[in-house]
Amino acid sequence: MSQFKNDLLLRAAKGENVERVPVWLMRQAGRILPEYRAVRAKAKNFIEFVKTSEMAAEVTVQPVDILGVDAAIIFSDILVIPEAMGLPYQMIEAKGPHFEKTITSQSDVNALKISDGSNLQYVYDAIRLSKKQLNNRVPLIGFCGAPWTLLAYMVEGNGSKTFSKAKKFLYTQPKLAHQTLEKITQSSINYLKGQVEAGADLIQIFDSWAGVLSPEMHNEFSLRYMSAICDELSKQVPVTIFAKDAHFALSEIKNTKCSVVGIDWNTNPQEARKNLGNRKTLQGNADPCLLYADFDVIKKETKKMLDAFGPQNYIANLGHGLYPDTEKEKVKFFIDCVKQHTFQVAKVNA
Ligand code: CP3
Repeated sequence: MSQFKNDLLLRAAKGENVERVPVWLMRQAGRILPEYRAVRAKAKNFIEFVKTSEMAAEVTVQPVDILGVDAAIIFSDILVIPEAMGLPYQMIEAKGPHFEKTITSQSDVNALKISDGSNLQYVYDAIRLSKKQLNNRVPLIGFCGAPWTLLAYMVEGNGSKTFSKAKKFLYTQPKLAHQTLEKITQSSINYLKGQVEAGADLIQIFDSWAGVLSPEMHNEFSLRYMSAICDELSKQVPVTIFAKDAHFALSEIKNTKCSVVGIDWNTNPQEARKNLGNRKTLQGNADPCLLYADFDVIKKETKKMLDAFGPQNYIANLGHGLYPDTEKEKVKFFIDCVKQHTFQVAKVNA
C-alpha cells in the first residue's frame, strides 16, 4: 500500500497503470497566485525568500491547496548550487539572475568548491516542513539544474538569448568546461541525495538551455553529466530529464536511467514516443501561452494533447514554466480539464 492518498504521479513516473492522468505545472509555486505574492512581499528579496524555509514551505504547498495539482515541487531555484560552490548571485527584479563573479580561467575553476550539500540545509529544512504540511496528500518533487544550464549562467553571469559567452567557453576551453561540469555534477548529486533524504519523492533535472547546443555539443557537455546524475539518483527515486528545445536529443535521453522525459510544445507527442520507446513516461507539453486563450480553446487544445499522449505513461504539464501574467482561473481550468478528461476506449469485438 502506498503511503500517499494520491500517488498518481509516482505511479505514472514508474510506468505503472493509473486510473487518471496526473497533472502538475512547472512554476506552479509562483507569481500567478496572489497567495504567493502575499508571502513573497514579506521577504526582503528573492534569495532571502528561498532561504527562509517556513516561507518556502508555505508557497510549496499552496498550489496543492489552491489549484488541486497532483504534486508539489519544492520552492527554490536552480542557482542555489552555484552559490553553494562559491559563486553567489542576485535576483534582479524584472531582469533575472546576476553573478558578480563568473568563470573564465583555470584559477576560477580551481576556486570552485564541490558542495557536500551541508550548506544547502535550508532547502532540506523546507522539504521537511513541506512534507509535514502535505501530510502524504501528494508526492513532493525535488529538483536541480542540469550541469550545462548551471555552467551557462556561471560563465555568462546572467540570462541570455544565445548564451554565446558560455558556448565560446565550451569551444575555446573545453578542458576547463569539463572540469567545471564535473564539479557541478558532484555537487548536484550530493545535493539531490540530501533532498531525497529530507523527503523528496521524485527528482527533476532542468536543462533549460539545452536548445542552444548542437546535438554533438549537447551529448558531450550536457547529456553525459545528466546521465551521471541519473545513474546515482535513479537507485533511490524516479528521475525526470527536461531538456528544453532539445527534441534532437530524445533518442539519446532514451539511453539514460531517467524514468520520465519532459517535452516542450515544439515536440510532437507521437514523435517523442517513437524516439523514446515505451519504457519512458512522457511529461508535458502544452504551450504556456495556451492559458491566455478563451476557456473553450483551452478545453479543446488540452483534450487534443491528452488524446495524443494517451492514458498511460504520461504526466500532463506545460512545455515550460507558467508565465507570471497568466490568470489563476485559466490555470485552474487547465488542471480541471485534465482531471475530467475521458479517453475513448477502443471497442473490442467479441
Ligand atoms: O514552482 C516551481 O516550479 C518551483 C520553483 C522554481 C523556481 N525556479 C522559482 C522561481 C523552479 C523549479 C525554478 C527553476 C529555475 N530557475 C530554472 C529552470 C526552469 C526554467 O524556467 O527553465 C531556471 C532557468 C531558473 C533561473 C531563474 N530563476 C530565472 C531565469 C529567474 C528570473 C525569471 C523570472 O521568472 O523572474 C528566476 C526567478 C524565479 N525562480 C522566480 C520563481 C518563482 C520568480 C522570482 C519572484 O517570484 O520574484
